[in-house]
Amino acid sequence: MEKLIGNKKIKIAVFISGKGSNLKNLIHHSYKKNSKFEVNLIISNNSKAKGLIYSEKHKIKKKIFKYSDKKFFEKKSLEELKKNKINFICLAGFMKILSKNFIKNFKGTIINIHPSLLPKYKGLNTHQRALNNKEKYSGCTVHYVNSKLDSGKIILQKKVKIKKNETVKGLEKKVLKIEHNIYPIALNKILTNF
Ligand code: GRF
Repeated sequence: MEKLIGNKKIKIAVFISGKGSNLKNLIHHSYKKNSKFEVNLIISNNSKAKGLIYSEKHKIKKKIFKYSDKKFFEKKSLEELKKNKINFICLAGFMKILSKNFIKNFKGTIINIHPSLLPKYKGLNTHQRALNNKEKYSGCTVHYVNSKLDSGKIILQKKVKIKKNETVKGLEKKVLKIEHNIYPIALNKILTNF
């Protein structure tokens, strides 16, 4: 993996599986003068992912690889990451777990955003589970990725209050808003010392 010197922005790839609001947000932040990164590659396991639209909109290269064969997906992704000299990976609504072998290739340079206050509520349906348990707060977490689900070292968290009669939809919206707030902050923070 190449490291960049001087004022050049760090080339990142964003992995998505769905609507891509975090991808969109990261792209917008990348245009800011003080941003330390640029989004150079979008990788998805899902050809129908709505977020792929931001590839055309912002002229960013996209690659879609089938996940039915995980080895194939990871091999092709690694090839593209190397070809495009990507230095850092952000998972953003990427619904698959990367293998130890894949992660080894990008040690300490893969992060993810998760819609809960980790270590609480790893995995899916976080909002429903938080509501079922009558939590007073929920939130989101940016963390390093390791081969265990939502378990890598925590980088940044932000919480929101759960109101009475909060719905899953309402909570999802509220949490997504703070995800868009902290993901670029966490990324820029890491890349400052990169
Ligand atoms: C976000 O809530 C993210 O935390 C989770 O999946 C959702 C993706 O949303 N991992 P989007 O595709 O970025 O809009």
